[in-house]
Amino acid sequence: MASKIRESILEALSSSDNSYFSGQELADQAGCSRTAIWKHIEDLRSSGFMIESRRKKGYRLLGKTDELNENNLLVGLKTETLGRSVLFLESVESTQKIAHRLAQETAPEGTLVIAEEQVSGRGRMARSWHSPKGTGIWMSLLLRPSLPPQKAPQFTLIAAVAIVEAIKDKCDLDVDIKWPNDLLINGKKVTGILTELQADSEQIHSLIIGMGINVNQSAEDFSDDIREIATSLHIESDKTFSRAGIVQEILSNLEKYYAVYIKEGFEPIKEIWEKYAVTIGRQITARTLNKEIKGFASGITNEGVLKLIDETGETHLIYSADIE
Ligand code: BTN
Repeated sequence: MASKIRESILEALSSSDNSYFSGQELADQAGCSRTAIWKHIEDLRSSGFMIESRRKKGYRLLGKTDELNENNLLVGLKTETLGRSVLFLESVESTQKIAHRLAQETAPEGTLVIAEEQVSGRGRMARSWHSPKGTGIWMSLLLRPSLPPQKAPQFTLIAAVAIVEAIKDKCDLDVDIKWPNDLLINGKKVTGILTELQADSEQIHSLIIGMGINVNQSAEDFSDDIREIATSLHIESDKTFSRAGIVQEILSNLEKYYAVYIKEGFEPIKEIWEKYAVTIGRQITARTLNKEIKGFASGITNEGVLKLIDETGETHLIYSADIE
């Protein structure tokens, strides 16, 4: 009930710019007393919502500070399962590491581990992932699909589509997908996805989707070595965004596409993914751990594997590589 009242208040206050809502109006809408509204307004303020109150006029939403905590991740969350169990931490080595541990301790599907800062954030191919305090989204989502391990790479592509659409919706920015896991704006990396799993040869036990999104960093926040290749949503738009709002949108999208995937398979997701992908239909170089192949990227398979046709006409299936 408490969170329903909060949602009802937020819905009303966000429904129009600059209008005031009286305590009575909010109470009627939420089906509770004015005293309850007052208490919830206080609660929302302590979660970072800036709510002005004026005598004879009522309440008005001025904005939201960009604080991350369990409360403001849950208030307004529209999912059924994803992110319903959330572990928020101020500082961690890596949210992946914690999610792996929780996965072994029978944490439920949809558990989200999210931190303000990672001191040893990790990326693909044993690289590190710069995750400074308070500016980005560093999170790992635990899923438990009943599938064979070969299907795991598809989840990187599902997550990519969910994030691209969340950024479009919340920030009005167009994002390109570079296979398999990079999201780019104007050719610079804004997001990386790292899908890891615990499995036996037949079956996935848990799948951990790590997502690192550069949100409110300025160019100076990036070190010299990555400034040329990395960007943030703030740099691209000159706006500052609520990270909790973006997280909630990603979780909603992921839940929607996860359900589509379970019901209809990968095909519908693949079609959407191809719309946003910049890797396909181009001459590229794929650098795997032990070789380099040049050729034409003709598409992805139904497993999410990249198809590359070299100059002799031979098709190579690329499971993991850096693409140039
Ligand atoms: C990559 O592009 O190489 C993938 C980067 C993935 C970074 C995220 S941040 C949250 C999660 N925790 C980690 O240590 N890594 C992932």
